[in-house]
Amino acid sequence: MTIQRTSIDKGTSKLISYLISIHIRRLTEMKSILNFHVFLILFILGSSAHGKEQDTFPKQLKFGVATSSFQVEGGWNASGKGESMWDRFMHEHPEYVIDHSNGDVACDSYHLWKTDIEMLKDLGVHFYRFSLSWTRILPTGFSNRINSDGVKYYNNIINRLLESGIEPMITLYHWDLPQNILEIGGWTSIRTAEYFADFARIAFRLFGDRVKKWITFNEPSSICKEPYESQTVIPLINLTGIGCYICGKTILIAHSKAYHIYNKEFRKNRKVT
Ligand SMILES: *[C@@H]1O[C@H](CO)[C@@H](O)[C@H](O)[C@H]1NC(C)=O
Ligand SMILES: *[C@@H]1O[C@H](CO)[C@@H](O)[C@H](O)[C@H]1NC(C)=O
Repeated sequence: MTIQRTSIDKGTSKLISYLISIHIRRLTEMKSILNFHVFLILFILGSSAHGKEQDTFPKQLKFGVATSSFQVEGGWNASGKGESMWDRFMHEHPEYVIDHSNGDVACDSYHLWKTDIEMLKDLGVHFYRFSLSWTRILPTGFSNRINSDGVKYYNNIINRLLESGIEPMITLYHWDLPQNILEIGGWTSIRTAEYFADFARIAFRLFGDRVKKWITFNEPSSICKEPYESQTVIPLINLTGIGCYICGKTILIAHSKAYHIYNKEFRKNRKVT
């Protein structure tokens, strides 16, 4: 898509500079090696820019912001949430973070979600992309037990976003693997693809009536490369030249399973296509 405008209106330029300043501020605040970013995403939906000269972005251009559960939620053990690998890692290895901070409280979005959605309204975004904490929904990591408080938390967010005219967009996996699943092989175990598929099916069933846009994995290369090929990020495995491929295969299979589950079991029930 070509944006032919040479200037943008004042409101939009204010929004952009505000978003960028938040981005920079958050990055500055994150003094850790975690390298979690508040992603500033411009989603371009639709592909035709009409040649009309005007000072606004085309209607198809949507603005949104995104977060990840570990980065913003906090409430690491609140209301039945299970332990993720990042909870465990940060507790056992504070030295991996320069200021020894962890995700126990983070931005406390577990408690401040209403304020956060107010901020999204102030920003004037069209959508908000957030990730689900796997162990907030499935405390053991497996589908044997669903934590109703965790489900309620995400239902509240989704409903409030919709009431506010903001489209919810869910990332299923943004790096916070259940500790239990890490311990039985993590992404180097092909079974993890099955566990992920179970989780995805439950998430589609719980939220798919209202959430129409889903992302399976955030940055697959970051899930596989540093974690399994260096000793810098959990699980601190250095399988240089091998780990990335083993992990990558599991991720691809997991993605494909989630896609087919959605396609076969849920797509027909979508109210919007
Ligand atoms: C949750 O973790 C905090 C430390 O971050 C601890 O003080 C508290 O007792 C824990 N609560 C539960 C219910 O385990
Ligand atoms: C990881 O393994 C490779 C190859 O064996 C080695 O060159 C590299 O120094 C190791 N990295 C760390 C952080 O130990």
